[in-house]
Amino acid sequence: MANRWINTLKDKDVTPEDMFLNRRQIMGGALAGVGLAGMGSSVSAAPEGLEPNSYEEITSYNNYYEFGTGKDDPARYAGKLTTTPWTVQIDGMVDNPGEFAFEDIMKAMTIEERIYKFRCVEAWSMVVPWNGFELADLLNMAGVQSGAKYVAFETALRPDEMPGVAYPVLDWPYVEGLRLDEAMHPLTIMATGIYGKDIPNQNGAPLRLVVPWKYGFKSIKSVVKITLTDKQPATSWNKANAREYGFYSNVNPEVDHPRWSQASERLIGGGLFSKRVPTLMFNGYEGEVAGLYEGMDLAKDI
Ligand code: MTE
Repeated sequence: MANRWINTLKDKDVTPEDMFLNRRQIMGGALAGVGLAGMGSSVSAAPEGLEPNSYEEITSYNNYYEFGTGKDDPARYAGKLTTTPWTVQIDGMVDNPGEFAFEDIMKAMTIEERIYKFRCVEAWSMVVPWNGFELADLLNMAGVQSGAKYVAFETALRPDEMPGVAYPVLDWPYVEGLRLDEAMHPLTIMATGIYGKDIPNQNGAPLRLVVPWKYGFKSIKSVVKITLTDKQPATSWNKANAREYGFYSNVNPEVDHPRWSQASERLIGGGLFSKRVPTLMFNGYEGEVAGLYEGMDLAKDI
């Protein structure tokens, strides 16, 4: 089934050439979606009115609590985060554990453009043209062992560079997790760019998870550690409030947040004219991912 949120790179979406100086971010861009079973050339454009948000919108309205809880705090303060050098530790139930330099990961991975809808649990959404690689490719490189069932992720913790971690808003470092089949799903990417430019610090430089059918808080930023495990990992928001934030946190218009409805969402952009639109099951990716949850009660396993 064609996915309305995955876009092939079209002329009108291509940003000016000078934005593409960083070639590593666009290699394979025209092949967006190719890895998706049964999709191939049937990928379709985002529907009218849901063009990608502007670079300005995507990079100035953020959640990155390590830099403060205001939407404009990350853009204001995340510049302090040192992203070079950067390494990602991959450990746990893998054949090839190690500390991998970001540059080496980039050399080994194929960067594609993926235009995804991004739905925050706070009931706002954007459409983001990410550049990145499939998490499955990285995990396959690490060699996932047969007993592994989950993947745990961890964000950098740098009190000197992150003013927000002085406050106990969350139990730092920010941690997240996925079931292994979710992590291996071709829609799950590690994003390294936006609009063909290196991903800005406020969006999770130099690499962050993007799981488009789940609420945005699952998409952990500035990842320094990936651990394969046979136990369901603890996740930051679940630790903070298990009743409100489950391990799965799949976008679901039928299961409200205890304090607000999830039936609709506000599309960021357009200022006063920002629209409210109905929220779609699995954020519009139901055809691709519903099978992962067969037999589960999605009202219970939130
Ligand atoms: N990752 C870390 N490390 N810290 C955070 O505070 N916020 C999450 C997620 N990843 C967060 C994080 C939430 S709530 C959302 S909605 C998205 O990042 C926001 O991503 P964006 O700023 O790129 O839109």
